[in-house]
This record gives sequence, structure tokens and C-alpha cells, in this order.
Amino acid sequence: MGLTLSTPDLELRLPTGEELACLADVASEGVHSADFMPFLVPWTAGTPAEVARTVIQNYWRRCGEWQPDNWALLLTVFKDGQPIGVQSMRAKNFAITREVATGSWLGRRFQGRGYGTQMRAAMLELAFTGLNADTAISGSLIDNEASLGVSRKLGYRLDGVGREVVNGKLRIDQRLRLDRLDWRAPFLVPVKGLEGCLSEFGL
Ligand SMILES: CC(C)(COP(=O)(O)OP(=O)(O)OC[C@H]1O[C@@H](n2cnc3c(N)ncnc32)[C@H](O)[C@@H]1OP(=O)(O)O)[C@@H](O)C(=O)NCCC(=O)NCCS
Repeated sequence: MGLTLSTPDLELRLPTGEELACLADVASEGVHSADFMPFLVPWTAGTPAEVARTVIQNYWRRCGEWQPDNWALLLTVFKDGQPIGVQSMRAKNFAITREVATGSWLGRRFQGRGYGTQMRAAMLELAFTGLNADTAISGSLIDNEASLGVSRKLGYRLDGVGREVVNGKLRIDQRLRLDRLDWRAPFLVPVKGLEGCLSEFGL
């Protein structure tokens, strides 16, 4: 899949094997502080080697399980040619539901510089303009200020909460929803290579 999205500072695309290994190293160096788990599935809780392996295995698992009616696109985010994180988007029966769900992470040293907003905006532009989605949903644990900040900046509305258990403890998950009519891309997002893979998205 030669799909590539660009933002003012970033490029989003599938990684080569070597780039995937670099991405795994970025994750193993840390994605969040030790006292705050931002994920419902706490995949960053292991040793650096375990975290790196999870990044690689999850990438290949999602590729291997891809179906046009049940897909998860994990695009690696590059800054100046170096992998810095992942922006994902998934959907089931997209041709009918026209709804996508997104997720993301950045290596800790790349956070807080506006890249999280840029990469989510790029994926939303692919969803709404490229794939003709009607809605995009997201979820952030209620104390995840950075993720909530990205959603707020991009125009999401609050969409209820879920009560989840992470590592045996109650965590409240804030659901968010962005409808097509509320979407305004904050910058131009050149999208390359989409036409050849529309059928892979069930379209
Ligand atoms: C969530 C994440 C991808 C956001 O990316 P980012 O590059 O750090 O976010 P941005 O710099 O684009 O910031 C977006 C907004 O949130 C605000 N924000 C960022 N970090 C914040 C923090 N720690 N506390 C409060 N506000 C914060 C920013 O100020 C910005 O708003 P502003 O421009 O109005 O000031 C990144 O922080 C990350 O990878 N976190 C760890 C993993 C994670 O939480 N993933 C999401 C799971 S749901």
C-alpha cells in the first residue's frame, strides 16, 4: 500500500522493516511517564524489549488480519525521515457505517510540539475527504489531557463515558465524536496513493 499523507511537519505512511524496528525502539524509550497509563490495553507496561516486540507484532498482526470489512490502518509518523510514533484508524463494515475510530502515540520526546494534532488531522482528512466518512470517534482516559487537547482542537464533541478496568483499577474513558459537518482541516493534507487501495477499505 503506497498511501502517504503529509502535514506541515510530518509524513504518515507504512514503514519498511528497518523503519518498523526504529519505531519499536522509539516506543521502548518511553511513551508516557511511569505513573500514568494512558492506554486501555496497557501495552507500554513491559520491559523496553517487550514494548518493542509488541509494536512490531501488533503492526504485523493488523496487516495480517486486514479485511475490507474489518481493517485497522497503522501509519507510522515520520519527522525528518525518522519514525516518531503511530497514528491508527480502524473500522468495521465501513462501507455501511461510514464510521472510523482513531488511536495514536508518540515517543515521549516528540510530544507537546503539536505533532499529535497534525497526525490526527491528517488521518481525519483521509477519513472524511479521502474515504467519505460520516463520523470519527475517539476515546481518551479522562485524565489524558494531551489526547483530549488534540480532540478539542480538532472540533470533537463529548459523547458519553465508559467505565473501564485497567490493571484491576477503575478508569473512566471519555468518548468523543467528530461529525463530517464539523470537520475543517486546519491545513492542507496532500494524500498520495489512495486510489489504488480504495477497495481494501471496502469502497
Ligand atoms: C496523545 C498524544 C498523541 C498527543 O500528541 P502531542 O503532540 O503531545 O499533542 P499536541 O502537542 O498536539 O497538543 C494538543 C493540545 O493538547 C494540549 N496538551 C498537550 N499535552 C498536554 C498536557 N500534558 N497537559 C495539558 N494539555 C496538554 C496542548 O497544549 C495542545 O493544545 P494547545 O495547542 O491549545 O495548547 C501524545 O501526547 C502521546 O503520544 N501521549 C501518550 C500516548 C497517548 O496518550 N496516546 C493516546 C491514547 S488515547
